[in-house]
Amino acid sequence: MTRYAKDQPATFENAINRVAIVGAGGTVGSHIVDALLKGGRHAITALSRDGSSNTFPEGVKVAPVNYDDEATLVAALKDQQFLIITIAPTAPRDTHSKLVQAAAKAGVPYVMPNEYSGDIENVKLGQDMILGPVAQAQRDEIEKLGMKWITVCCGFWFDYSLGGGESRFGFDFDNRSLTFYDDGNTKTSTSTLAQVGRAVAKVLGLDELPADENDESLTLSSFFNKGVYVNSFVVSQKDMFQSVKRVTGTTDADWTITHEDTKKRYEEGLAQVKTGNMAGFSKLLFARGFFPDDASDFSAKAQNELLGLPDENLDESTKVGIDLVKKLQLRPQRMAS
Ligand SMILES: NC(=O)c1ccc[n+]([C@@H]2O[C@H](COP(=O)([O-])OP(=O)(O)OC[C@H]3O[C@@H](n4cnc5c(N)ncnc54)[C@H](OP(=O)(O)O)[C@@H]3O)[C@@H](O)[C@H]2O)c1
Repeated sequence: MTRYAKDQPATFENAINRVAIVGAGGTVGSHIVDALLKGGRHAITALSRDGSSNTFPEGVKVAPVNYDDEATLVAALKDQQFLIITIAPTAPRDTHSKLVQAAAKAGVPYVMPNEYSGDIENVKLGQDMILGPVAQAQRDEIEKLGMKWITVCCGFWFDYSLGGGESRFGFDFDNRSLTFYDDGNTKTSTSTLAQVGRAVAKVLGLDELPADENDESLTLSSFFNKGVYVNSFVVSQKDMFQSVKRVTGTTDADWTITHEDTKKRYEEGLAQVKTGNMAGFSKLLFARGFFPDDASDFSAKAQNELLGLPDENLDESTKVGIDLVKKLQLRPQRMAS
């Protein structure tokens, strides 16, 4: 049933003013925080593990938490209106559930689950990528506990995946080598980390509910239990390679190019994961995203215009990705998983 602001108690604010975020110092979380701070509308609380080495920008209140002590999570979430979860894929599996249960106990009405992947409505793709059913269970748990979710469907992170090694977009910048999936012409939806941050800030900057039955404006409630679809570039590896050559001032002659059959590469990654070798995971994930007959391209659903997101420049984003190479190499455990 549609709720309207006019029917709420006099104290109702019709805006999300207090936001809690997990992973505020992390890869995507830091960009979300940047964008929220730029908006200047939210009081931001970062839930961070006691003893974490993360640092946070000025203006963010830090709430130290211990995932083995639920009271610390509930206390940090008390009086928050929206919880954004961004957690490392290497975190223990039950971390998400602990957060969601604490959020329900603290009375937080809305949660952005840890997902940040492709089209949630492409169930087969999600199953093949293994992450789909996990994310579905996370969303189900939020609903079962009486809260609502808004998840971000952004596709592969463009800059992170470009700079993140051969097993992602195929680029090895140290060795100037590139693996094309099949012929390298399959296009996939990608978003820069900055665009993901902006999309989240836009959604959280909307009125929570429509004023009344006549109010047709976009509100936070338009996204309840739905995905926010966003992208930066819908590109093939060949498009990326053209951009990389422009940005690095290189030519074909400077690069060693190989081609791999996408489906074979997917099966190899899957076989590695089945034997517990998580190096196979990004291999299967990205190979699957570039399947020529069912690529991770949801451009028709992108809501960039609806949200007023800016167009971005491919070469500038390529440069950001290349600048990430060294930084990501400092996280070998993470990048191998
Ligand atoms: N679309 C894509 O291309 C793409 C790529 C990568 C990831 N993702 C998705 O985005 C999510 C977030 O990834 P990210 O790279 O932003 O995460 P991240 O930066 O690796 O980690 C985020 C935060 O998780 C917390 N954390 C780390 N280890 C933990 C542990 N053992 N237990 C509990 N918390 C822990 C840390 O916060 P504190 O130290 O402050 O506690 C960390 O800053 C992933 O889980 C995945 O679903 C999408």
